[in-house]
Order: sequence, then C-alpha cells, then structure tokens
Amino acid sequence: MSDKNATLTVADRSVSLPLVEGSQGPSCIDISPLYRETGHFTFDPGFAATAACKSAITFIDGDKGVLLYRGYPIEQLAEKSRFLEVAYLLLEGELPSSAEMAKFEDTVTHHTMMHESVKNFLHGFHYDAHPMAMLCAAIASLSAFYHDTVDNEDPAQRKLAAIRLIAKMPTIAAAAYRYSIGWPVRYPRNNLEYVTRFLHMMFEVPSEPLELNPVVAKALDLLFILHADHEQNASTSTVRLVGSTGANPYASIAAGIAALWGPAHGGANEAVLKMLAEIGDAKNVEKAVARAKDKDSGFRLMGFGHRVYKNFDPRARIIREMTHKVLDELGVDDPLLDVALKLEEAALKDDYFVERKLYPNVDFYSGIIYKALRIPTEMFTVMFAIARTAGWIAHWIEQHEMPGGRIGRPRQVYVGATPRDYVALDKR
Ligand code: ACO
Repeated sequence: MSDKNATLTVADRSVSLPLVEGSQGPSCIDISPLYRETGHFTFDPGFAATAACKSAITFIDGDKGVLLYRGYPIEQLAEKSRFLEVAYLLLEGELPSSAEMAKFEDTVTHHTMMHESVKNFLHGFHYDAHPMAMLCAAIASLSAFYHDTVDNEDPAQRKLAAIRLIAKMPTIAAAAYRYSIGWPVRYPRNNLEYVTRFLHMMFEVPSEPLELNPVVAKALDLLFILHADHEQNASTSTVRLVGSTGANPYASIAAGIAALWGPAHGGANEAVLKMLAEIGDAKNVEKAVARAKDKDSGFRLMGFGHRVYKNFDPRARIIREMTHKVLDELGVDDPLLDVALKLEEAALKDDYFVERKLYPNVDFYSGIIYKALRIPTEMFTVMFAIARTAGWIAHWIEQHEMPGGRIGRPRQVYVGATPRDYVALDKR
C-alpha cells in the first residue's frame, strides 16, 4: 500500500481511496471502501480494469510486449530453460540448483502413473468423446482417488497435489487420445524426460519402437514453456475463483480446464486450424478478412487479438520463428501454412485490424506447429492444458499462502423486473 490516494467524487460525496503499488506496472486504486463510503459499486464487465488479487508469479506489460515468469523474460526462458525447470520456477519462485532440479524431476517422474480405475473411468466414455471433456472429467475425479491431498490448509498436501497434477496430466491426456483412436494405453516410462515421455505415451505402439526426431521434443518443450502461465487470464482466474471457495485442488484445476476449452481462450488453437481448413486456399483469404470485419457475420479471425497485448504477443514472436524451423527440419510442406501466412500478411496491413491493434497471438502459430508434430487437432487445447497446469497450480498455491484471502464474489447491475406481486396461476 502506498501513501498516495485517489479521490473519487460521487454526487456531493468525495471518498479518498488508497493506491496499491506493485513492484512493476501501473498502481491500482483500492476500491474496497467504495460501497461502504458511497453506496456505489463499480461496473467493469470482463474485468478489463480490475485487479482481483496480488500475485508474484507472472508480469505482463501488454503495451511493450513484455512477459516475465518470476522476473525472468520469456525470451530467455524459451532459449535456455526447459519446461520442467520453468514449472519449478513458477511453483517455488526461484530457479532450482542442480540438486533441487534433480529431486523435483525425480518426484514428478515417480508420480506419473494414474490409478487403474482412472483408466477404466476414461474407458467409460464414448469412443468419439472430445479429449478435453475426458481430461476435465478425469482431473475432477482425482479428488476421489487421492484423499490424502484435499486438505488445502496443509502446505505439504498442497505441494503433493501440485506434483501429482503436473505429473499425471500428460498420462491422462495421452490415454484420452489413445482411447479415441482405439490404441492401448501406454504407461509412462521413467527413463524418459517429461516431454519425451509424453510423446512416447502418445505415439508409441506395442509393435515397434518409436523413432522420435529430437526437433519434435524440443518444439513441444518450447510450446509448453510459452503456455505455462499468463497471470490472471480467464482459466487462471477461474481456478482462483473456485479455489477461493475452499474447493480441492483437483476440482479447481478441472474448472480451469473447462474455462480453457472456450474458443475465445485456449480453444483458439483448435479453432485456428479449423478456420484455416475452411478458408482452404490462399486465394480465399481476402474474403475471410472481409467476413471477419463484418460484425453481422459473427465470424472472427481466430488467433488474432488479445485482451492484454495491444502491440505484439512476445510468445507469438518466439513461436513464429520456431514454426519455420520445425516445418523446415521435418520437411513439412503444408498448404495450410500458405493460407496462414497470407492471412497474417493481409490482416496486418488492414486498417480494421491495425486500428483495433489485432495481431496474431500465440495460438495462431501453435496449431500449425502441433499439426506438423502430428498432434491431432482435438488435442491442441489439451496440450495447452498440460502446460498451463504448472501456472494454474502455482496460482492456486499462492492464493492459499497469501494472507487475507476472501471468497470471490462479484456484484452486478440488476436490470430485471422491479418488485411486483405474485399472480395466482388461474389469474394469469
Ligand atoms: N477478428 C475480428 N475482429 C476482432 C477480433 C478478431 N479475432 N478480435 C477482436 N475483434 C474486434 C471486436 O469485434 C471489437 O471491434 P469493435 O471495437 O468494432 O466492437 C474490437 O476488435 C475489440 O474486441 P473485444 O472483443 O472487445 O476484445 P477483447 O479484449 O474483449 O477480446 C479476444 C480479446 C477474446 C482474444 C478477441 O480478440 C478474440 O475473440 N480473438 C479471437 C480468439 C482468440 O484468438 N483467442 C485466443 C486468445 S490468446 C489465448 O487465450 C492464449
């Protein structure tokens, strides 16, 4: 809290509201005394001007295109780190020493198995169930399997739940995928590293060993780093809102998965590929751009725009470069990439997109890479969920560790009927 104040005048009443200063970024006006002092709430649909919590995990400067995890620039982490180290950083606040990293990796590795009943539970789904539906349900069900980690007040239980979620998410995700294509579930192999182990669970068949191009694992690891956290986005805010009620970690993360699924959020990467396939050919791009500008069409360019980044998405820059590298190294010649590049070019010079600061976001490119890595389209958002689990659970833990937590309970502007008398059924 700073010693500065803002003064707000409503009718003839003025109220002095304290400013809250963070370590970086704009200061916030603490409006918590507002209703008490003036009888008014604030109105901020979509929470575009509202900070709901204090957090020390991730910093974004949307105007400058800055993204820091625990103070470290995303560009440096993307170049020098790997996903599991980033997960440790998000959870613990510091980069690990080699001994700490080895212990963390060993612990995660030894929690990757899922209970056989979780497998049976997945097998109860219809064969064509969307893997996000299966993932969301299976993660919510974990609280029924791991009763020893549902006491939110116990720091050791919180930590173990975090490890379990980070470790089991790829196992459950890969099992959901294999079930959908009728392949037997592959169990996690402890001699492999996190991302490679996941790729083996996805693609290895019993009849022959998997030959994995290291470029594939490297690209996936990078995507996981870029998607690991993004401060108070819709799914993380959902995890925190559910967490604020005292719900267990598995239920809270399942709620985050549900929020991530929407096409305005994590579902955008799947929607991008569907959109590119619909456009079909670079010669149809102009028509698609015109449709996206027509408000009556209800069509938006998927993978464009961002609530916070208004100049560029730093993750999109990193991934754009990686996209070309992956396609070259894997020798992929994908006509959808031509559509994507033409679309990017057309939108970037169109006044509608320029004026509204709508740039390609991380998901515009992530789908193209996933496709090149042979990840099926329905699994794109699942990939995002695996990576974001590290961020979600770091926020859930922070929320429980920070003093002064309150249940999240927004207010509303009521626009319904004013009081009226009940009319008996035979009189209506
Ligand atoms: N295509 C066409 N027009 C768009 C797009 C788009 N992708 N995005 C925003 N606009 C327009 C809106 O119609 C609006 O125009 P107006 O001012 O004339 O009414 C203006 O740009 C502002 O849009 P809002 O919806 O108010 O912006 P908001 O910050 O609420 O939404 C969002 C951001 C949801 C990301 C939006 O840009 C969108 O729907 N993008 C497509 C989906 C997508 O790619 N989502 C992934 C986000 S990144 C992530 O979750 C990792």
